[in-house]
Amino acid sequence: MKKTVLVTGGCGFIGVNFVRLLLEAREDWQVINLDKLTYAGNLQSLEGVADHPRHTFIRGDICDAALIDALFTEHEIDTVVHFAAESHVDRSITDPDAFVRTNVFGTFTLLEGARKYWLDQGRDSNCRFLHVSTDEVYGSLGKTGYFTETTRYDPRSPYSASKASSDHFVRAYFHTYGLPILITNCSNNYGPYQFPEKLIPLVLNNALQGKPLPVYGDGGNVRDWLYVRDHCEAIVRVLEHGQVGEAYNIGGHNEKKNIEVVELLCDMLDAKVGLPANGKPRKTLITFVKDRLGHDRRYAIDAGKIDRELDWRPKYTFEQGMEKTVDWYLENKKWSESVMDGSYQQYYAKMYDWSQD
Ligand code: NAD
Ligand code: DAU
Repeated sequence: MKKTVLVTGGCGFIGVNFVRLLLEAREDWQVINLDKLTYAGNLQSLEGVADHPRHTFIRGDICDAALIDALFTEHEIDTVVHFAAESHVDRSITDPDAFVRTNVFGTFTLLEGARKYWLDQGRDSNCRFLHVSTDEVYGSLGKTGYFTETTRYDPRSPYSASKASSDHFVRAYFHTYGLPILITNCSNNYGPYQFPEKLIPLVLNNALQGKPLPVYGDGGNVRDWLYVRDHCEAIVRVLEHGQVGEAYNIGGHNEKKNIEVVELLCDMLDAKVGLPANGKPRKTLITFVKDRLGHDRRYAIDAGKIDRELDWRPKYTFEQGMEKTVDWYLENKKWSESVMDGSYQQYYAKMYDWSQD
């Protein structure tokens, strides 16, 4: 079925992978990619697909109500897949303002745009607003147990509090106005194009440069890892088959301690590119550092609902996903270098005539 999809945050890590998947796998879907290009947005990540005839990039802010209204009308948007957010927990601890603005007010602005364009004008029958959220809204687990869709919300960082708030707004628009919403709550993603502030690409880059590998606290915090392609495919499944008004947990059944992830990356690099010049295994670069404030101990997703109801389960094991990820970063060193030296922010400036910015 034809769709015109407004993808917000389509120049960020998951958004870019999602845009690429749609252009590859959904021939009759138009993609309108709205991104503010914060530090986390990277047009280089769209290389090879930026000029695709079914892809339109618009630089803009989801908090700009006039822009959002104009986009709905001009492009006749029938589907929203909302990724745009401030996404990094550490930044939310030092600078929470942007998280409230983008994650809460930005989501509200998009909901208002959809409500006015779809509901006030009687267009809602095939429309969908899919809000991409996180398992962090559920808080932190002890040694046992899993997050299900009915787990009580218990956000504990400014990031997760802002995402929880946005989830509540999305649900409120379903219950109050009947807006056709869907929510997905996913665990930690990894894969190509992830900004190197997050654990896996940060460790990969540091390990390649012989720099210390910072592990917070005792390294025993547990995350449930999912290869980004699996997450993107799950979102398409929810969009096409999910029941309006419902939330779906998405996870990889891959619980790992942080220290295990870091050690695995070190071993993989030693095997793939050889030991560093000093002849010592990269594990010797591991440095235990001061813990993150309020660091959630364990996340683990029960993804049974999406499996039973929508027949989705991850295709990649952790080992397969990590193999692909490490190979991608080794083959795309220029991408990481341009992020780390800041040159990625000028990449398309001339092409889009942003010289005045
Ligand atoms: P990211 O930080 O890599 O990308 C965010 C993108 O949003 C960037 O391109 C940025 O420029 C854009 N953006 C930020 N503020 C904006 C604004 N005001 N207007 C328009 N664009 C704006 O994030 P990500 O890791 O790709 O995460 C995407 C979404 O998925 C987020 O909503 C996040 O909460 C959610 N999520 C992420 C993970 C994960 O492990 N990365 C897991 C579960 C859920
Ligand atoms: O669970 C889903 C969430 O996963 C998403 O909603 C967030 O957007 C995404 O950033 C991610 O949050 P985390 O805080 O879990 O990801 P991060 O990569 O920052 O950290 C993963 C774990 O590694 C966490 O326990 C903190 C730890 N860590 C992180 C960094 C950056 C370290 O030990 N050292 C580090 O340098």
